[in-house]
Amino acid sequence: MPKTIALAGKGGTGKTTIAALLIQGLMRRIPGPLLAIDADPAANLHLALGLPMPMTVGEIREDMTVSAQKEQLGVAISRHDYLTHEVQMALEEGEQVDLLAMGRPEGQGCYCAANHMLRTVIDNIGDTYKYIVVDNEAGMEHISRRTTRDVDLLLIVSDPTIRGIKTAGHIGKLADEIEIDVRRKMLILNRVAGDLPGPLQEAVDELDLELGAVIPADDKVNKLDALGRPLIQLNGDSPSYREIEALTEKILRDI
Ligand SMILES: Nc1ncnc2c1ncn2[C@@H]1O[C@H](COP(=O)(O)OP(=O)(O)OP(=O)(O)O)[C@@H](O)[C@H]1O
Ligand SMILES: [Mg+2]
Repeated sequence: MPKTIALAGKGGTGKTTIAALLIQGLMRRIPGPLLAIDADPAANLHLALGLPMPMTVGEIREDMTVSAQKEQLGVAISRHDYLTHEVQMALEEGEQVDLLAMGRPEGQGCYCAANHMLRTVIDNIGDTYKYIVVDNEAGMEHISRRTTRDVDLLLIVSDPTIRGIKTAGHIGKLADEIEIDVRRKMLILNRVAGDLPGPLQEAVDELDLELGAVIPADDKVNKLDALGRPLIQLNGDSPSYREIEALTEKILRDI
């Protein structure tokens, strides 16, 4: 079974950045491709990975709904096979990472059978990988909506602010309430400049969350992102790179 690592956290805290850096850390260490899932409707993980914008699962669902309404999907090919083929076509294949973008969530009056089938199809495709990294939109509610897959590790990303850390704690609690099983959670403090001030350290200590990594504020990350360049261009000179390396090692060892 693949190991699934999902990212969650308040908006703009660095989920996508850390997802991309972690994917690269894993790519350097494991043979064969891993699966990256961009579960944010405002898909942008591809930019951080240096891949083109893939076709989204949302688009596949919409096409299917239209075809179903026109009754074009018939007997020759089962809907399940059709969706498997479409999702496989939508996979953007990089050298060591395959990217699947979820796109827009199902709207009102959705074609629910297609949704259900899509989940199964995506879960089946995911089963062929060793690691799956899922970048999510801010918040927690939607995390279980599009997969039945349990999460081996939830990385909850926070900025170094009291409000951010409290939100991370809240997300950690919500994670225990959703219908999928979240086996382990870690807090990732991101964009930390210098030592963590006392009150922030206390707020972290009060949380019932393991501290996975403290990633420094890194100008190089910000500059690459501002220019729409892939984070693959980051190297060992960057302080954030070294912290991600340590996090990757920890994940490969413990998860
Ligand atoms: N360690 C860091 N040092 C400097 N800048 C960073 C760092 N991590 C993230 N950033 C910058 O912070 C901004 C937000 O990052 P990112 O898009 O990864 O956040 P997000 O949590 O995915 O946001 P959203 O909730 O919109 O999906 C980006 O401009 C990114 O370059
Ligand atoms: Mg993001």
